[in-house]
Amino acid sequence: MKKKYFIETQGCQMNEYDSDKMKDLLSKEMDFENTNNKEDADILIVNTCSIREKAQEKVFSLLGKWRKLKNKKPDLVIGVAGCVASQESTAITSRAPYVDMVIGPQTIHRLPKIYEQSLKSKSTIVDVEFPLIEKFDNLPRLSNSKFSEFVTIMEGCSKYCSYCVVPYTRGTEVSRPLNDILKEIENLVENGTKEITLLGQNVNAYFYKDKEGNIVNFGLLLFYIARDKRIKRIRYTTSHPNNFDEQTYLAYEKIPQLVSHLHLPIQSGSDKVLAAMKRGYTVLEYKSVIRKLRKARPDITFSSDFIVGFPGETEKDFMKTIDIIKEVNFDQSYSFIYSKRPGTPASAIEDNISLKEKKERLNFLQETINQLSKNKSKSILGEKEEILVEGVSSKYNNMVTGRTKNNKIISIPGNKNLIGEILDIKITELNNRSLKGEVFEK
Ligand code: SAH
Ligand code: SF4
Ligand code: F3S
Repeated sequence: MKKKYFIETQGCQMNEYDSDKMKDLLSKEMDFENTNNKEDADILIVNTCSIREKAQEKVFSLLGKWRKLKNKKPDLVIGVAGCVASQESTAITSRAPYVDMVIGPQTIHRLPKIYEQSLKSKSTIVDVEFPLIEKFDNLPRLSNSKFSEFVTIMEGCSKYCSYCVVPYTRGTEVSRPLNDILKEIENLVENGTKEITLLGQNVNAYFYKDKEGNIVNFGLLLFYIARDKRIKRIRYTTSHPNNFDEQTYLAYEKIPQLVSHLHLPIQSGSDKVLAAMKRGYTVLEYKSVIRKLRKARPDITFSSDFIVGFPGETEKDFMKTIDIIKEVNFDQSYSFIYSKRPGTPASAIEDNISLKEKKERLNFLQETINQLSKNKSKSILGEKEEILVEGVSSKYNNMVTGRTKNNKIISIPGNKNLIGEILDIKITELNNRSLKGEVFEK
């Protein structure tokens, strides 16, 4: 009988991508099979996130539970991967010495070797190095791809915003060679993938110089990818306002497959707060990026990330964030209360805002964006849109859901045979916050 693995994934899409790769290694190179039941597993791995304090504490409480499973089954192997592994490897070995493997985001491809070592050794095996791009050369190729797939094009971050752990947990920006990316995409497309989402902490900081000295920036990469017309949609996340190049603006004019929606984190609408965050741009500069994108693609919509309650943020600063939200008309947000992270420069700044105040600001911000999103949904009632069907609806019977090029989720009548189809639909109904539609009859 095959041994079984269980992987829990926390954090961002980079972690989801890495977990998928670990699953491939486990099933293709290590002859394990997946289980959804922790009690049955021979190896348990949690792929962790340390972006906020809560995320990190969640790891230790989970490990406490897994320890009980190990008491019952001493051969059980427990692994901690991802950003907490990278940032807190010593805390893990001291607070949870029963963990067998600590694997950083850049060493997941070494899982088979680390696992072998841990079976032989009585102590925890820790491998949290940053061996540049070695990881991608050593990962097995996916065989059954889905209609929508992620492709990591770069890793890490060299921006060092004052509050953020990512440059320390994932290392500095490193881009993958152009041909490796194009080959990975071709392989996916040959297996039926229609939508590609390019991934990276700062995707548009992509920079690759080949042996002849030719430079490929992010915009050019988009043009290379879009040459394959079997690819119907190209998305990317997360981009940084300071890394837009002229070719990327041009891509929005020339590449129809590039969707009309962009997640572009701003964090705050106050120049004073942006400077304290070391974001490297002003509100005016951010708006200039938005203006150029809109010029190239008039129907583009935006979502963003916000941090509220950054130390020193006054009510007036916060209201500037609300102003920019209304001005840009963001229709979705990932917004969080500032969390002090050990080792970051901002952790030395005195936190002078009460939790009550922070919560009120967060609620207000989220309500503002929900209202804008609702207005946008109302405005597309009766419109014709193109959707890519992604799955059966969890809310409605006999319906499937898909996303428009503006990233709106629409439910239409149908069954799982429609998954992966690109359809022209008409939007017919807005029910609270969810949109319904039907296939467009010409
Ligand atoms: N590279 C991307 C974001 C990656 S982290 C960018 O800079 O745009 C994802 C989000 O987590 C950030 O955009 C930020 O909003 C949030 N975040 C990061 N550190 C945080 C902290 N210390 N407290 C609260 N939110 C944080
Ligand atoms: Fe973190 Fe800033 Fe890098 Fe984004 S750009 S990952 S917020 S340091
Ligand atoms: Fe979290 Fe690491 Fe992603 S800290 S948000 S899992 S890069």
